[in-house]
Amino acid sequence: MKALVLSGGTGTRLRPLSYSMPKQLIPVANKPVLEHVLENIRDLGVVEIGMIVGDRAPEITRAIGDGSRFGARITYITQDEPLGLAHCVTLAEEFLGDEDFVMYLGDNLLPDGIADIAREFATGRPEAQVVVCKVFDPSSFGVAELDEHGAVLRLVEKPHEPKSDLALIGVYFFTQAIHEAVAAIGPSARGELEITDAIQWLVGRGAEVKATEYGGYWKDTGSVDDVLEGNRQLLDRLRPAVLGEIDHASVLIGPVIVEPGARVLRSTIEGPAIIGAGTVVADSRVGEHTSLGRDCVLSGTSIGNSVVLDGSTLSGIPELRDSLIGRSVSIGAADRGTCHRLVLGDHTHVRIAA
Ligand code: G1P
Repeated sequence: MKALVLSGGTGTRLRPLSYSMPKQLIPVANKPVLEHVLENIRDLGVVEIGMIVGDRAPEITRAIGDGSRFGARITYITQDEPLGLAHCVTLAEEFLGDEDFVMYLGDNLLPDGIADIAREFATGRPEAQVVVCKVFDPSSFGVAELDEHGAVLRLVEKPHEPKSDLALIGVYFFTQAIHEAVAAIGPSARGELEITDAIQWLVGRGAEVKATEYGGYWKDTGSVDDVLEGNRQLLDRLRPAVLGEIDHASVLIGPVIVEPGARVLRSTIEGPAIIGAGTVVADSRVGEHTSLGRDCVLSGTSIGNSVVLDGSTLSGIPELRDSLIGRSVSIGAADRGTCHRLVLGDHTHVRIAA
């Protein structure tokens, strides 16, 4: 089996972060979402991985490399325009050949892995196997209608009136039958070749298409709240390890990772939390579900339920919550009186307590 990872998406709902980094590289529990994806693929024993990249290709190739770190060989395939998930399969046709493959969206987080479903696919070997999850608002996903044995009756991409609450998650198992399907369909209303339509084409031709309801945690990390929720989920699975320095005046509560070279001084860290390598936390409180990246500096600050990327400085901030902070950001107390001074990039969100 091969794997096809799709990392071409732009991430408009993750602005302004997605202006400076591809959304697939946004860290969750201090590791890019895409690395979590590649680890799940490695756990299947798949070594040939095709990676679809768009205009953010240089950053993705720099971060991920040739795949040897994941025991795999990565072939990068460029998609010049975002023409849809089925279009990605067309671009990868030569790479995939006639082999079965798992297609995995590079912004989908599945910390419980996909090994059980891969085994199910290999055993039953339907022409295609999709994975579904019950969601509250199915209309923003591909939606599946199933019979009582898990066979797919119908798939619709982002229906206005969903006929079920089962959303397609971003992991699909295909045989070579999908190549004829992606060649047969036309663009959707949003102008894309939808993989949902290609699978529906197979269903319409009487092919065996199975669906498995996913038992683990799944999140499409498309928005800031999704990233924070995914971060909470991963931190809840954290195995504590203190490899940095904690002084005697500091207290660690619950599971905490302090990475090498990090220093915690006169501070309280309430886990689950991660303090990244080289980061200094002084006279501060880091609350539950917070991931601090590498080489950050926190002083006189209280933060909780947040993700801070590498190289940021936070000083004299009394209560920061539910925040996603990019790389090399500086947040400090105002110089003059009670005025706020902000220097913000496009599409930044700020909420100031009255
Ligand atoms: C894509 C698929 C959709 C699926 C979703 C899962 O949506 O088109 O069927 O439910 O991924 O993350 P998109 O992220 O392109 O809106």
